[in-house]
Amino acid sequence: MKPCIALTKGRLEKQFLEYFQSLGFDIQPLVKKGRKLRVDTEDFQFVFAKGVDVTTYVEHGIADLGIVGEDVLTEFQPDVFNLLPLPFGQCRMALAAEAGGKWPERKRKIASKYPNITKEFFRLKGESVDIVKLEGSVELAPILGLADGIVDIVETGTTLKENGLIIKEEFHQYTARCIANRSSLKIKKDCLTPLIEALQKGEAVT
Ligand code: PRP
Repeated sequence: MKPCIALTKGRLEKQFLEYFQSLGFDIQPLVKKGRKLRVDTEDFQFVFAKGVDVTTYVEHGIADLGIVGEDVLTEFQPDVFNLLPLPFGQCRMALAAEAGGKWPERKRKIASKYPNITKEFFRLKGESVDIVKLEGSVELAPILGLADGIVDIVETGTTLKENGLIIKEEFHQYTARCIANRSSLKIKKDCLTPLIEALQKGEAVT
């Protein structure tokens, strides 16, 4: 059976495909997939999912490998083998708030898609905060008065800038990672090794 690779949809998917192509793999079936969530190429089967679901498919052995942001691994701590860093998907985790806004002295409210990372960040600072969990568009929270600040990933900084927010503190750097199901690494060693080696050898793409 072909190895199954779970890809995080969206930005990472695009960056992975550029990278994969730069390694000499044919990405045409993946580029032309339309809304399909499962695509076969000559050598692999690809499935497309949200980051945290990529880890779930890999953890359960449905996918042998997964391409996911390190931020997702840190937040959800899935039981997968964190195989190797990839030369794309660079981003950082930051605390941000409205530019020119007042940083209140009372207990602060922080909105985030990453409650565990946020909790740990403030625990290390010795500050107790209220965390509001959101699923996306976190930048809205300070603008609309739901929170005093946000903890979120910043890649280009465009979303913060266009929504009038500034970084108060940066505290983690992440890249995309290739993760693997622990059993697949043993059972499918022969067919996974060439692919893993290719992913490992590749040059950075921007
Ligand atoms: C991520 C992140 C920021 C944005 C940062 O969101 O949560 O909102 O990207 O990128 P930038 O610094 O290049 O502007 P994503 O695009 O994944 O969408 P979401 O808000 O729906 O989660």
